[in-house]
Amino acid sequence: MGRINILDKHTAELIAAGEVVERPSSVIKELVENSIDAGATAVTVEIKNGGVTFMRVSDNGSGILREDVRPAFIRHATSKVKAEEDLDCIATLGFRGEALCSVSSVSHLELLTKAREEEIGTRCLIDGGEERLLEDAGCPIGTTIIVRDLFYNVPARMKFLKTDLSEGNAVSNVIDKIALSHPEVAITYIKDSKLALKTAGDGKLLSAIYAVYGREFANGLIPVSYEMGGVKVEGYVSRPENARSNRNMQNFFINHRYVICKTAMAAISEACKGSVMIGKFPSCVINIDMSFSAVDVNVHPTKLEVRFLNERPVFDAVYHAVKSALLNGEKRIEASFPSRKAPAVNPFELYKKASREKEENKAPASFPQASVKTAGSSEKKPASDELFAMLDHPVAVKKPTVINRTSVLSDSADPFELYSKQAQKNEEKKQRAIDIAKADKAAREAVTAPTETVLEIPQSDETSPQEPKPLIATDDNDYRYIGEAFKTYIIIEKNPRELMLIDKHAAHERIIYEKLKRDKGSGYSQLLLEPITLTLNKIDYDNAILNKDVLMEAGFDIDSFGSGMIIIRSAPQYLSFDDIALSVEEMVGYLSQNKKEIRSEKMEWIYHNISCRAAIKGGDFSTDEELIELAKKVEDEDIRHCPHGRPVCVILKKRELEKLFGRIV
Ligand SMILES: Nc1ncnc2c1ncn2[C@@H]1O[C@H](COP(=O)(O)OP(=O)(O)OP(=O)(O)O)[C@@H](O)[C@H]1O
Ligand SMILES: [Mg+2]
Repeated sequence: MGRINILDKHTAELIAAGEVVERPSSVIKELVENSIDAGATAVTVEIKNGGVTFMRVSDNGSGILREDVRPAFIRHATSKVKAEEDLDCIATLGFRGEALCSVSSVSHLELLTKAREEEIGTRCLIDGGEERLLEDAGCPIGTTIIVRDLFYNVPARMKFLKTDLSEGNAVSNVIDKIALSHPEVAITYIKDSKLALKTAGDGKLLSAIYAVYGREFANGLIPVSYEMGGVKVEGYVSRPENARSNRNMQNFFINHRYVICKTAMAAISEACKGSVMIGKFPSCVINIDMSFSAVDVNVHPTKLEVRFLNERPVFDAVYHAVKSALLNGEKRIEASFPSRKAPAVNPFELYKKASREKEENKAPASFPQASVKTAGSSEKKPASDELFAMLDHPVAVKKPTVINRTSVLSDSADPFELYSKQAQKNEEKKQRAIDIAKADKAAREAVTAPTETVLEIPQSDETSPQEPKPLIATDDNDYRYIGEAFKTYIIIEKNPRELMLIDKHAAHERIIYEKLKRDKGSGYSQLLLEPITLTLNKIDYDNAILNKDVLMEAGFDIDSFGSGMIIIRSAPQYLSFDDIALSVEEMVGYLSQNKKEIRSEKMEWIYHNISCRAAIKGGDFSTDEELIELAKKVEDEDIRHCPHGRPVCVILKKRELEKLFGRIV
């Protein structure tokens, strides 16, 4: 007998359902997308227990005709596509004809619907793919679908569901994306009997952004509006100074469909070069309108990926849209001084300042009290005024100047070419690094002959046979400070036989890290005179609140400040004011991705993060006194590695130098 079985319909359905329905948030995405496709102007979503036990989506759309109710639950039955050629030009969010079938095969589903053209509505019950009831029902025009006990009949799937809180976060995140991509639809979202989101449905993107991310976020945005090569880019991008440490707040929509769009991400990064600091990412809510036939959305059942017929026009349009928006919205940043705004002062910064002042032989100046305003800037209007002005005239107020391509690019280089070349170069660089590492390893294994001029750099373990001695900057001591190389390495002559090279960033990072671990939380936390508010996406927000105690132990006192926004009241004193929000963002991003890790590992990562941010950087200016102080600590505390494991100190033996110069063989 052969070994291949043809699966029964039920088993095949369960397998297929897995592709579309992964968790409650995927159900909500499919149901709300159906409502939008049905022309709804108002959609209400309600979930309980993260959606696992209860989800309800009601709309005022077209409703489903009685004769279409049964077919709607058959796989590959759809009203949105008729023939093959329609697939080349998909204008609706759904088209595969499998969402309802998938959802109904892994849950208890109830449908209530009434089409405009029918007198009476329909109620239908389906359990695990089996129809239980189909009857007349009195209901308003539109559709309501209730999904109970998701995966009740697929225990293997159920096992993979996360906590109700995580599942609920994922649903909130999906709702946010839908609300942002369809400002013309009024969305009401109720989570565990509480109103979690309500959008106006007035068609204004800014009011949807305001509802989803709050006033502060909405106020830090610059409008984007640009059309090029048949691609229209509309939306908002954050001001460069509001850039984030990750891409979690970048939202791209293609023809009002939320997608993960690498081309647009790359284009925005290129456009921000020179305006946004390296390693930071602007937030954005951008819709890209283009011909339906130029984009293939049929890449994956979840429809989160798209393929472009031609990537270039999309890249170019987003690039020029964002570049011109940034130029248009550019305003000088108001300078403010730490005494007014930043009570959390980096002690190393203070020390640096004091030593510089000592050097210049003058008494330490007190910090100016007033913030410096740029020439011509008037008194700042209250944030809400600005917002409402923009809400009233979302585009008209700040219409971006359209800038022609060459004027945007100072060197007339083609950004797409640059981006493609850069991607290729990175690949080559990666390969070269692998080759070098291989060659290096081989060489190290092979080196036995003394004739080769290879610098032997012993492990730091072998390098300090004597008791550590205090470092004094005089010539008659065992330790003599020589200077600094490349604004990064401290050079110390240690006894007559060795040179110490110390990486100042790594050393300082380790010192702070040890202090953080020793003092724990409140030991180094400092109350902020002016608390910081931070808008996060829903997943990050909930993780921030969930991990409040972890953050507290790290020195950050945070609290909820309304849905999606947190307030930071205290922060580690080592961090500069500007680094606090970025550090919290990074930590929360990490906590969102590493939920299962045990607490001590989370703390380790957080201590690494703070110490890395707070430590003096390679390339920063440092005085001799600071460097000597650091070198002393490295010796006194016998510091060998930075928290990431990189060496802090490398010893160069005089013997090796002499060999290099042929003084000895
Ligand atoms: N809320 C709704 N209002 C009106 N009609 C609906 C609604 N939900 C579903 N339908 C109808 O049921 C059909 C099947 O829905 P289903 O979500 O399974 O497939 P689809 O939306 O066509 O494609 P996809 O699987 O890509 O979502 C739809 O084509 C539509 O005609
Ligand atoms: Mg659908």
